[in-house]
This record gives sequence, C-alpha cells and structure tokens, in this order.
Amino acid sequence: MKRVLSGIQPTGGVHLGNYFGAFRNWVSDQHDTDAFFCIVDLHALTVDHDPAQLARTTLEMATMFLAVGLDPSACTLFVQSHVLQHTALTWLLECTASFGELSRMTQFKDKGKGRESVSAGLFTYPVLMAADILAYDTDSVPVGHDQKQHLELARNIAIRFNGRYGDTFKVPQPDIPKVGARIMDLQDPTSKMSKSSKSEQGLIYLLDDPATIEKKIKRAVTDAEPEVRFDPESKPGVSNLLTLLAAATDKTPDDAAKGLVNYGSLKHSAAEAIIEMVRPIQERYRQLSADTSEVSRLLANGAQKASEIAEATVRRAGDAVGLLPKSF
Ligand code: AMP
Ligand code: TRP
Repeated sequence: MKRVLSGIQPTGGVHLGNYFGAFRNWVSDQHDTDAFFCIVDLHALTVDHDPAQLARTTLEMATMFLAVGLDPSACTLFVQSHVLQHTALTWLLECTASFGELSRMTQFKDKGKGRESVSAGLFTYPVLMAADILAYDTDSVPVGHDQKQHLELARNIAIRFNGRYGDTFKVPQPDIPKVGARIMDLQDPTSKMSKSSKSEQGLIYLLDDPATIEKKIKRAVTDAEPEVRFDPESKPGVSNLLTLLAAATDKTPDDAAKGLVNYGSLKHSAAEAIIEMVRPIQERYRQLSADTSEVSRLLANGAQKASEIAEATVRRAGDAVGLLPKSF
C-alpha cells in the first residue's frame, strides 16, 4: 500500500479551511493507504509560543484528529516530539541541505520579516519537515499549496543524499489538492481562511457553536449584485459560501447554487449545512475530551509504531554517512 504522511502544527483551533483542505482528505485516505498523521509540536517552537499552552493544544489537536474520524486502527497518529528519530534525522539532513536553498524558502522570508530576531529553528524548519517525511519512506504527502516549496526541498535533499551516499531515502511525491479545496476568509474572500486572519469573524472553527456559525455566515461579505452564481473571479464572497455549502453537502458549487434565489437563502443553507456537518464532530470531541487518558494511550501506541520505522531509517542513514553503527 502506498504510504502517506502529513503533519499539522498544534497551534490555533481547527477551522473549515483545515477541515476541507486537509482533515477530510486524510480521513478518506486512511482506508486505502498506509497513512501517518503527525502533530508537529517541534515546528511550533520555531516562533514565539506559550509553553503553558503547548501540551494542551497538542492534546486538543489529537482529540480533533479522532473526532473528525481518523481511526487509529486504520492509520498511525502521533506527536512529532515523541519520536526522537525525527530530530536525529534532521541533523543528518541539515548537513546535506545548503544554506542557500534554505534562504530561498518563501515561508522563512515571510515569517522572518519584521522580526527583531529569528531563531535558527525557523531557518531549518523545512529540514525538520523533510525528516518527518523521509523517516517513513513516504510515497505521497498531502499538503496545501503553501507547502509545495518545502516538499520540493525534501525531494531535493533526498535526491542529493542518495547521490552522495547511496540509495537511502525514498523520494516523496507531493499531493496538492485541486483549487476547489481552497476555503477563503468570510470577511476578506480574496485571502484564504487562516488562523493568522485579521478578524475572528472571517473564520469558522469546527468547535464553534451553532449560533456563532450562523452569525459568522450571516455577516460574510458578498457583493451588490443579487444573483447566486459560482464565479470566484467576480463574486469571491458568494463563491466561497457556495464552496462551503457544496463541500458540506458533497455537491459541486454549481449544483449547490441551484434553487437559491437570493443571498439570504444561500447564507441560511450554508449555515445549516455546516452546523449539521460539525454536529457529530463536536459530539465526539466532547466525549473524547471527557477522558483524555484514552487519547494519550492512542498517541503512545502511534509513537511506538512510528519510532520503530523511523529508527530503521535513522540507522540506515547513519550507516550511509559512515557513523560507527550502534552495536546495541
Ligand atoms: P495551517 O493551518 O496553515 O497549518 O494548515 C494546515 C493544513 O490545512 C494544511 O494542509 C493546509 O493546506 C490546510 N489549509 C489551511 N488553510 C486552508 C484553507 N483556507 N483552505 C484549504 N486548506 C487549508
Ligand atoms: N509545515 C507544514 C505546515 O505548516 C506542517 C508539516 C510539518 C508537515 N511536517 C510535515 C506537513 C510533514 C506534511 C508533512 O502545514
């Protein structure tokens, strides 16, 4: 079976962009691939973070993994920092990656912009990501378009390492969803829905209560023309609502538009569909939150399985670069 791996940082709540752009695909991937999903807590340390919150948000993300339908008997769920081999492998890869190529990463340039001080970790962030991927002989990496450059780097590092030291790593393929999966900000529909958005009104979180969802959809930006039509270029707000309605009801946006006579009915239908869609997720999230020991136990199992595979890769890479093999 094809091996798939993806990761998400444990910061901020999970919003509809994450759900439609990532989680929902992961849930369907888990049954016909050998899937690994990782909460990348070490990546969250590359910028300012609150040490008092990180463990809690990591556990919340794991709870959300389970609530949306990731099934630990069908896929491997784990926390990055629980598998030390990721950081061991990062070092071997850092000595293969070049300063120049890391300097060209647009995310590093964006995140570093205007900061007084930038951590070395922010600079080498993509190498840790490459280690996450290469540690598991990953075939395919489902990520958003913004991660394309990082994935290209992971491929280049693998190819260079293999060229220098002999065939060691599988070269992964990106799996970037088609444009349709992009969910936009409700207040600023030309920017994508993102946790770094200017207004909380622009995002819907999976854990928002029905009244909040309704309010946010009601206030969503549309346009002055009355027609409900899917046309992202000239009607970005209306098209985004149609994308959401379509995604929540498994239709195409054009089909979702049928029978909707005005923006009021579009908003009503979209809100209703999203509320119905998140209801079972929220219920399951609540049940799981009542006993976090079960979530912790599942994460321990996941880390155990992941570290066996990652350990074999680290040893293989260590042998390739000529480290004295461990005899223990
Ligand atoms: P982030 O929240 O940016 O760390 O992204 C986590 C995952 O959610 C990645 O796979 C992103 O591609 C996906 N994602 C984030 N925002 C959106 C969005 N607005 N539309 C579609 N996918 C998104
Ligand atoms: N950098 C990715 C993001 O911000 C998260 C990530 C870390 C990741 N390691 C990964 C994604 C490995 C895919 C595979 O979205």
